[in-house]
Amino acid sequence: MSGYRVGAAIAEGDGYTIVENASLLGRNTFHVAARAQMLVDVRKPAALGELFGYAALRTQPLLVLGEGSNILFTRDWPGVVLAIAAHGVRVLADRGDRAHVRVEAGEPWNDFVRWSLACGFVGLENLVLIPGTVGAAPIQNIGAYGAEVREFILAVEAWDRRAGELVRIDNAACAFGYRDSVFKREHERYVVTAVEFELVRERALRLDYAGVREELAAMGIEEPRAPAVAEAIARIRTRKLPNPVLLGNAGSFFKNPLVDAAQAESLRRAHPALPAWATGSQWKLSAAWLIETCGYKGLRAGDAGVSGQHALVLVNHGRASGAEVWALAERVRAGVQERFGVTLEVEPLVV
Ligand code: EPU
Repeated sequence: MSGYRVGAAIAEGDGYTIVENASLLGRNTFHVAARAQMLVDVRKPAALGELFGYAALRTQPLLVLGEGSNILFTRDWPGVVLAIAAHGVRVLADRGDRAHVRVEAGEPWNDFVRWSLACGFVGLENLVLIPGTVGAAPIQNIGAYGAEVREFILAVEAWDRRAGELVRIDNAACAFGYRDSVFKREHERYVVTAVEFELVRERALRLDYAGVREELAAMGIEEPRAPAVAEAIARIRTRKLPNPVLLGNAGSFFKNPLVDAAQAESLRRAHPALPAWATGSQWKLSAAWLIETCGYKGLRAGDAGVSGQHALVLVNHGRASGAEVWALAERVRAGVQERFGVTLEVEPLVV
């Protein structure tokens, strides 16, 4: 039972385990030390009704944790941490060209991507190798290489703490945005228990993101299919992003900032190399470029650092505390603000 403090009080229920004063060190990919007043591992979502009957779970601050791959603890959690460990992938309907699939929240995201590719579905290949669970995927609407998970989600099943029941929230009501959803905005309200996807067997591949076609060419592939695209993207990710198993991190620490056309234009006039993309009436700027240009790539403050592989990723080189990582994040943010007049928004949840 790694991660549990010896001597902590443990209670077993039908489908769940409760540990008091539990260590969260092994439960966040930044590998920083933090404790939860109460840690609840839920193996059967049906147990949520019983669990939320307890006053502690109804009233205390609640934090829902998947693999902890998008969170930074700068302090202990003064309430309940809930981890959904339910597994399973079930095809609810298969009409040949498309299928309706239900996945339990605790399933690792990448396992589901691999499963979908092995079944001949097309679409999730661009989202290969993203850390975290299926239940966490809709929360920040994970995205990479020109795709976002919201394109594939029919509905999300969640325990609604306010209503005190399981609810099924359809795609529109999830209010997905760039690294955003209703679950992120109301993160104390919903506990995602399962996600329903619509997967198809025919779909145009998305190869336009910078580097994808080049990688396929380097692999000697001229007419790619979805598994080859997944392989190409896995290679790019492995090269560009530090592996959280080897070096603590939570992926991109900042979102790519959105600015209006006038600001984008004046920035691009001053810095012609700044990567920028029009999205609707706004422009998205490369936060990695802004950070690197400030000279922060590879910077270290004790064991907290900016990755030398990718400037958007903050890392823990060993024994950094969450507070030290956060102090470095604030330094980076202030530097970018001062030099470019652009405010970087933090991407993971910072406790
Ligand atoms: N760049 C730099 N310096 C760097 C890294 C990148 O200047 O150290 C420049 C590149 O030259 C490129 C641009 O920044 O022109 C974009 O780089 P990249 O393709 O790596 O993508 P990103 O915008 O930095 C976003 C996501 C990643 C996702 C990649 C690929 C966000 C916050 N991040 O990063 O998602 O993997 O695109 O699609 O949108 C995550 O959310 O945790 C994450 C890793």
